[in-house]
Amino acid sequence: MAAAARTASRAFLRSTPATSSFRPAARSTRFTIPTQAFRASSRRGYSSEAGPSKSSNTPVILGLLAAGGAGAYFYLNGADTSAKGPFVPTQQDYQKVYDEIASRLDNSEYDDGSYGPVLVRLAWHASGTYDKESGTGGSNGATMRFDPEASHGANAGLKVARDFLEPVKAKFPWISYSDLWTLAGACAIQELGGPTIPWRPGRVDRDMTACTPDGRLPDGSKDQKHVRDIFYRMGFDDREIVALIGAHALGRGHPDRSGYDGPWDFSPTVFTNEFFRLLLEEKWQQRKWGGPKQFTDKSTQTLMMMPADLAFVNDKAFKKHVERFAKDNDAFFKEFSDVFVKLLELGVPFESKPEDRFVFKTTE
Ligand code: HEM
Repeated sequence: MAAAARTASRAFLRSTPATSSFRPAARSTRFTIPTQAFRASSRRGYSSEAGPSKSSNTPVILGLLAAGGAGAYFYLNGADTSAKGPFVPTQQDYQKVYDEIASRLDNSEYDDGSYGPVLVRLAWHASGTYDKESGTGGSNGATMRFDPEASHGANAGLKVARDFLEPVKAKFPWISYSDLWTLAGACAIQELGGPTIPWRPGRVDRDMTACTPDGRLPDGSKDQKHVRDIFYRMGFDDREIVALIGAHALGRGHPDRSGYDGPWDFSPTVFTNEFFRLLLEEKWQQRKWGGPKQFTDKSTQTLMMMPADLAFVNDKAFKKHVERFAKDNDAFFKEFSDVFVKLLELGVPFESKPEDRFVFKTTE
């Protein structure tokens, strides 16, 4: 997203009253197009099965395996394996991966016009399986490539994001899936107008024996007790949990994935603190429909909140931070960045130090 467009869309969001009908998605005609027509086209464009690798470049795969899959595979060039020596990717190489993902994000055929939101969800679900007691789960391993984890209910629809990244993996076969998925999450946040997400490589792909059990990710139909149980298990406190849920400014529920339907705000492809503001300022009433229990805004009846989203205003300790972030976008951006970096690094045995993280350049 061009920086100018980002600035303009944020300024627009801020200067337009909450309930105005002139608050369209920042770069989407989503709210003027009949839902069914849009959904039909949104299913196009993701067909290939995400697997451990689709590449036909066997030497490269062998090299990847030999080097543990990350960072330092031997760059095989035909039969000549010795001349080039080990390929150690630099920050510039990772920036190229970032740029490739960024250049593919926009697609008017898909959802609200960007693959960014679903990439954020992939990065979060890959990381949010972490259990601080056992040290299992987390972003190291990219085990969602395999069943049973790929078929866990919470991961429904994430094949879209995994498939989206396959051509990027094919172009940069030296990057591990687990680094690629988390880098894509950082890239999406930045490109959709969010804060800088410093990122570092070092994740190694693991096989299906490292899949985590079902039930480690939150359930939208539950309350604050469940939300705390899930996030405390990962090692987050209340303030961090509230900052994280602000990512629901992006994207939408899909009836054919989670069952939920609709976006949380009017600009689902721009990262803002709008989730918090709307959560506080709108009247949320239960939607009468055949799907799971969800709430809709009284003003336009186009937005949604799940029961677990409303837990953030029903709980006093959570609500304190919701109010703070609704008022202070800078505080939200700063605290979201810190906690998203922490999320993406859960369970990764880095050899590098936190100060070695890369700050990627956002595309102009
Ligand atoms: C209480 C915690 C949470 C619950 C219950 C929850 C649940 C859900 C559900 C049910 C969906 C809809 C999926 C679909 O139908 O496509 C969703 C979407 C999404 N979630 Fe969460 N989530 C939680 C926390 C988070 C966190 C911590 C993040 C990131 C930091 C996040 C990022 C997203 C994004 C970006 C989407 C939109 C995906 C898209 O448009 O494809 N969520 N979430």
